[in-house]
Amino acid sequence: MNKAQSSSKFRTGALLALVLCTNAFADAPVQLRDYCPPGFELTDGNRCELRTLYQNYDPQGIVDYITSPTKKRDDYPEMPPQNYLSEDVRMAAAEFMLQVEN
Ligand code: HEM
Repeated sequence: MNKAQSSSKFRTGALLALVLCTNAFADAPVQLRDYCPPGFELTDGNRCELRTLYQNYDPQGIVDYITSPTKKRDDYPEMPPQNYLSEDVRMAAAEFMLQVEN
């Protein structure tokens, strides 16, 4: 079988799988979870809104946290203290962090 034939066979297979799977799930009731993924918060309007890690911090707040971190998430290890950095460097890192955008 040449490359074009095998690619066409793959496309046919993929399409068939899509049709069969779509049919199989078509009647399944959709059940939304009553909780949000990590980093999102369930609002009163029953929506999951993204909470960015840093929106609750000002530069001094970040400096305080990285000087003496506390455990935030169950599925992550606690951050190691960054107190080996001078206060100025910690502040510069915090200010840099807050001005970075996606
Ligand atoms: C100047 C350097 C650093 C800054 C400014 C910084 C800042 C932060 C901030 C703001 C958070 C989020 C805390 C929150 O969820 O509210 C965080 C979390 C974390 N950081 Fe850092 N970090 C630094 C260096 C590091 C280093 C060197 C490591 C590892 C070697 C590290 C590991 C972690 C981990 C594992 C978390 C998650 C902790 C948890 O959820 O309990 N960080 N960091």
